[in-house]
Amino acid sequence: MNTTNFGIVIMAAGKGTRLKSKRPKVLHEIGGKALLLHVIAAARTIAEPANIYCIIGHEADKVRSAVASTGVQFVLQAEQLGTGHALQQVKSHFTSTGQTVPKHLMVLSGDVPLIRPETLKALVDTHLAEQAAMTILTAVPSNPHGYGRVNRATADSPDVSGITEQKDLPPGDPGSPEINSGIYCFETAALFDNLAKLSNQNASGEFYLTDVAHLLVSQGQRVVAVKADHIDEVLGANTIAEMMHLDAAMRLATARRLMASGVTIFRPETTVIDAEVEVGPDTTIEPYVQLLGATRIGSDCLIRSFSVIQASTLADNVTVRNGCILDTATVANAAILGPYAHLRPGSDIGEQAHVGNFVETKKVRLGKGSKANHLTYLGDAVVGAGTNIGAGVITANYDGANKHLTTIGDRVFVGSDSTLVAPITIGDDTLIAAGSTLTDSVPADALAIARTRQSTKPGWAKLHRPIKKT
Ligand code: UD1
Ligand code: CA
Repeated sequence: MNTTNFGIVIMAAGKGTRLKSKRPKVLHEIGGKALLLHVIAAARTIAEPANIYCIIGHEADKVRSAVASTGVQFVLQAEQLGTGHALQQVKSHFTSTGQTVPKHLMVLSGDVPLIRPETLKALVDTHLAEQAAMTILTAVPSNPHGYGRVNRATADSPDVSGITEQKDLPPGDPGSPEINSGIYCFETAALFDNLAKLSNQNASGEFYLTDVAHLLVSQGQRVVAVKADHIDEVLGANTIAEMMHLDAAMRLATARRLMASGVTIFRPETTVIDAEVEVGPDTTIEPYVQLLGATRIGSDCLIRSFSVIQASTLADNVTVRNGCILDTATVANAAILGPYAHLRPGSDIGEQAHVGNFVETKKVRLGKGSKANHLTYLGDAVVGAGTNIGAGVITANYDGANKHLTTIGDRVFVGSDSTLVAPITIGDDTLIAAGSTLTDSVPADALAIARTRQSTKPGWAKLHRPIKKT
């Protein structure tokens, strides 16, 4: 497609009153990503960022900074007087900047996030083939309530006579079952010529973009409709419930994509998998798992129920037992985690290492084959290979003001319930006696004991045993 011939406008200035939320509607997330970012991603399959114009208004600065990295253009609609008024701002933008006006404009709604690239391409193809002034993407959902309704000129013709908003239907009139998706292609000149003619004499007191349809028809210009193949992709998100419906649809689509590539997902409707997650073949995901953000999981892994994995990278053959929480962690081949392990940011777990029950790690490198299996806190530490961290071991990394590093060598045996007061270095092949509180570094091959000696008094308990009164 010739990009100078084609621009895309995304309407994203509205407040989203029906959400009853402080956050602007287009920044609400489905599939772990803001609505507007989904729409921009779809637009990017048709046009370069330089030809995508995002109309912003309500909380404009927040919306702009949330999507600025995509490189799209912004047009400000300071007051939100309706979708027709929003497009008027685009017209003014071209006039005031002197930028070349593209011959065709595709218009997308920032709150219709599931739209697929194939459907947008089909819309463009029909628009060009029919030489229409306006081409409307439509659908016939089971419940059309709330949407603008598309009236066809005659039952089977592609031609449209106009669009009636739900609020403007005469009382008792159910309206046409065919809904306006809020996604259109226009011949730009035909659109721009009519924007000033829009009126706000309607049930919402807004300037409706949809009224351009009957204006064009009355001028003898062609307005046609194309039906989308899938209902979900044209549904809007005006309420939290509608948004969660789209979220479920999107996550199920993600689960289906993964299953099609060889991932086993038991009860996929119970999983929460963000749109950009990647999982290798022959990995098994049990019910009630969450895979969030830019998480990458290799092949032949097992992710057991109730684990939440965020922005983390797992290599192949990794086992995540039940109830683990991972955030920004890296896990190497064949490591075993959990049950109930908590890997905080900067956890880097080596090949075949084990991080077991109720173990918390943060900014830790755990070497190949090392094990911390029970009730341990490892923070700001580097642990070598083949080292065993006993039950209840703690790196005391914080002195109340600063964090300090603990370095533990290869093949070290740290006895249970030891506290390593950082900064401290434990050499290779050392043995730390259970219950030690170490404040000084230990050289290689040493035994370190730091606890009071045991004293045993023979017969004492028998002599002092209380006698039970009857
Ligand atoms: C709109 C359509 C309706 C269609 C529905 C599909 C109109 C008049 N109605 O209704 O026919 O069935 O979408 O989802 O267009 N926006 C602005 N500036 C404004 C007003 C809105 O940028 O002044 C943006 C909103 O942020 C939103 C989009 O335009 O992303 C649609 O606005 P919304 O108020 O949700 O329109 P609907 O009532 O859903
Ligand atoms: Ca809407």
